[in-house]
Amino acid sequence: MSRLAPPEALVIRAPDDMHVHLREGAALAGYAADAARQFARILVMPNTHPPVWSPGDLAAYREGIAAAAPGLDLVMTFKVRAGMDAATVRALRDSGARAGKLYPQGATTNSGDGLASVDAAYPVFEAMEECGLALCIHGEEPSAPALEREEAFLPEVEGILRRFPRLKVVLEHVSSAAGIAFVREASGNLAATVTVHHLLYTTEDLLGGKLDVHLFCRPLLKGARDRAAIQEAVLAGDRRLFFGSDSAPHPLADKQSGAAGVYSMPVSLPLLAAFFVDHDAAGRLEDFVSRFGAEFYGLPLNEGRVRILRRAWRVPDELHGVVPLAAGRELQWRVEEDPASLTGPHYVDRREP
Ligand code: DOR
Ligand code: ZN
Repeated sequence: MSRLAPPEALVIRAPDDMHVHLREGAALAGYAADAARQFARILVMPNTHPPVWSPGDLAAYREGIAAAAPGLDLVMTFKVRAGMDAATVRALRDSGARAGKLYPQGATTNSGDGLASVDAAYPVFEAMEECGLALCIHGEEPSAPALEREEAFLPEVEGILRRFPRLKVVLEHVSSAAGIAFVREASGNLAATVTVHHLLYTTEDLLGGKLDVHLFCRPLLKGARDRAAIQEAVLAGDRRLFFGSDSAPHPLADKQSGAAGVYSMPVSLPLLAAFFVDHDAAGRLEDFVSRFGAEFYGLPLNEGRVRILRRAWRVPDELHGVVPLAAGRELQWRVEEDPASLTGPHYVDRREP
């Protein structure tokens, strides 16, 4: 842990979250507003119900989010489906998509309509490569044992990279030492997002004591060796690894009946700030959350700045009917917001007067 006195505040370029679930319907507005309080730009995942498949779906979803969070810059995606023709892929690009998402069938939330066979979507990947669209991959083989699914899927990723050498590919929410080694050895066209939960937690936190359903997610949290590999690569400043929270809210009742997902949006920047400061690497936080992702996607860097203050606060037990990551815990860092939004009961300011 840190040998240096911690700073009072970190000032960084306004950050990106390159992997977010905002859902649909009435819940969307609250989740989008939470995202806008923390991030300047987010990449929005398409596994809504119904999914984002067509240019019309994409435009309607973007408008719904923009209405709820007008200042938030949106990077839109669509769900890859076998049989999608090249004209549809081009139309998706023309309507603003930057990436398509590959979900193996049954791998996670709302993926029953995912791909039963990855090869079946090769013509779609070809059209995406032609159009300059990136491919985001939920890299898990659903038929493998639960903790081995990521490693078991890596040969599929390798096959895609070999077959489509100009396609930019993101291995989403990398969770294992094998996944990290694979990304670090692959060509420059492969990157990976890293979530705050896979960076900080292990299977022990999920089920070593009382089962914690709020840490249940796909891919599952792995062991200490896997977490160490993720931490080491992130702290080394590897530009192929950038932040994507996979913040995935589910109402409490759904979590209790087995829904996978961690609602990390409200706490991810505070937890990341603590992680980088505690490892004497505060200077690397900005690259991880504000630069490497944008550079990989070929997006301009955000112009603004945010201040993350060393000021203790207590994470609410519940937000919008969802239990956030680190609920009830006192965190040491907090994103500076509009002061009016900091007066609610959730934001207990622990500074001495
Ligand atoms: O835990 C997860 N939840 N992993 C995913 O890949 C999807 C997400 C969700 O949408 O709930
Ligand atoms: Zn996700």
